[in-house]
Amino acid sequence: MDELIYLDNAATSFPKPAVMHDTVRDFYRENGVNPGRTGCDMAIRAEEMISDTRSRLSRFFNPSLVAAGASKDPDRLVFTMNATMSLNLIINGTVGPGDHVVTTLCEHNSVIRPVNHKVRDEGAEATFVAPEPEGYVDPDEIRKAIRGNTTLVIVNHGSNVSGVVQDIAAIGRICREAGVPLAVDAAQTAGVLPIDMAAWNVSFLSFTGHKCLFGPTGTGGICVADDAEIRGTLVGGTGVRSAHPYHLEEYPFRLEAGTLNLAGIAGLNAGVRWVEDRGIENIHHHEIGLMGMLQEGLADIPGVVMHGTTRLESRVATLSVSVKGYDASDVGTFLDVDFNILTRTGLHCAPLIHEHYGTAPRGTIRFSIGPFNTDDHIMEAVRAVGEIAARRNT
Ligand SMILES: Cc1ncc(COP(=O)(O)O)c(C=O)c1O
Repeated sequence: MDELIYLDNAATSFPKPAVMHDTVRDFYRENGVNPGRTGCDMAIRAEEMISDTRSRLSRFFNPSLVAAGASKDPDRLVFTMNATMSLNLIINGTVGPGDHVVTTLCEHNSVIRPVNHKVRDEGAEATFVAPEPEGYVDPDEIRKAIRGNTTLVIVNHGSNVSGVVQDIAAIGRICREAGVPLAVDAAQTAGVLPIDMAAWNVSFLSFTGHKCLFGPTGTGGICVADDAEIRGTLVGGTGVRSAHPYHLEEYPFRLEAGTLNLAGIAGLNAGVRWVEDRGIENIHHHEIGLMGMLQEGLADIPGVVMHGTTRLESRVATLSVSVKGYDASDVGTFLDVDFNILTRTGLHCAPLIHEHYGTAPRGTIRFSIGPFNTDDHIMEAVRAVGEIAARRNT
């Protein structure tokens, strides 16, 4: 096939919707001034776009509040550069010396490393809860790990290695009973699975713009529940109340400093609207249908092992596999060079879950499906893996 078959949507979604490209292209020509710093029409329009994006995402992550006609403070939706920055802000703002954090082996390095730094550099403590063999975390194990000095539970919603989706509602009930804030890393789920912070008792939701929300890179954020407490750890300019000698406590400034990525947020706004128009249920249904095809096809190939879960419920459309007789990176190279199929190989920035699956240190070949993939793409991927496997397994 001459066409590139992109099966690396867990890294970043590709392609992005045309409306996102057009919005970013036009932004600086039409609205390119610094909101909050000047009062001209362009600045007002930019400010309205930012406010609309805050409100839109606050509603998106709190559907039960919207349905009940209840309010959610949109200023508690703060923008960051990516999920990594969001997770750093959450961990730095809730965990200090002598505090304890509960997390899991399913996490991305953007949780593992900030937590490890807290432990090594600041004398905090951490418990990494092991999931069951497929990768699902038993919420009761979270309950058992919580101690008197636990100040944060932080859990990955959807695994970027196996696609496993955790039962956040059950974990949230446990955190509510224990009086400990729950942070959720929704990098792989925001935009493809419904999220309900209020119903699930999530205090801090971290999201990235460039994956399932179809925004540009360099966008992301945190949605902070109205009753949650977090220290701000980023200080500097806010564009308002400049005479104040210290950083402002009120949201969004508490977690934001400096000029925002305006064109990025405009693109994120377009991406979220695109997801809303298409419907996340439709997007998820399409992707999971293709995942079923992929799993069925791979199951028939001698030498192919699928790691994690092969369920089609409680997952996103990401799958890690190994091919007997091969290093994962070689299979990735053959898929790319011989078949024009793009996957990602290795540890995917999540080394602990690979140890759990027994796939460390070389990792796996990861297929991750997006809304623009088709049946033909999946059939071609299965054919390609079959051909590669047959070179060493017949
Ligand atoms: C589960 C998970 N968390 C966090 C991140 C970090 O996201 P970003 O690159 O936007 O910082 C990723 C990115 O792959 C991820 O998959």
